Amino acid sequence: MRLFIAVSLPPLWKDRMDTATHYLKTHTEHCIPTPRGTFHLTLAFLGETDRLADVIQAMDQVHGAPFPLISSGIGQFPLKEGDLWWMGIESTPPLMDLQAKLADSLRGAGFEISDKPYQPHASLARQVQPKPDLDVAELERLLPPMSFEVRYMTLFRSDWDRGNLFYTPLHRTMLTEEN
Ligand code: 2AM
Repeated sequence: MRLFIAVSLPPLWKDRMDTATHYLKTHTEHCIPTPRGTFHLTLAFLGETDRLADVIQAMDQVHGAPFPLISSGIGQFPLKEGDLWWMGIESTPPLMDLQAKLADSLRGAGFEISDKPYQPHASLARQVQPKPDLDVAELERLLPPMSFEVRYMTLFRSDWDRGNLFYTPLHRTMLTEEN
């Protein structure tokens, strides 16, 4: 199964991100918008593995207190199949610390986790080919800075079914003050 660990985003964030992806859809020649139900912030991508119990154990070894997650603007990753557009997430110390501890714990359990610098983002649309009238300032207005308290991280299984992408939550690790 294909697994990744992520922070789920609250309804207000998803509503605004959905409005932003709708704007992208209507101001691009082509793009693959992220469906509202699948917006998230990836912490670690595991890829194909059957070692579910080991992943859960490595997640549960990570301790940290709840912390605020803060959104910040729009960005793009240039990819050969077309640019990926995303909503940025501030690289605050508690988020970077959680991601680093999670990656270390998973590596300690023998999983291959990317060693590229972590750039927190929530994907809005892939393979974006903008029309000339796409106004990034308007997109930024649709996504003003937002904040919410992260209280847990979630292990997701990713599946394709008849051309649709589905994420199934398999496990939650709570972030608790006393850890
Ligand atoms: P993203 O975070 O840029 O959107 C599930 O596939 C999630 O894991 C997606 O959110 C995806 O990208 C992220 N991810 C990170 N590295 C990946 C990789 N090498 N292949 C596929 N998805 C990856």
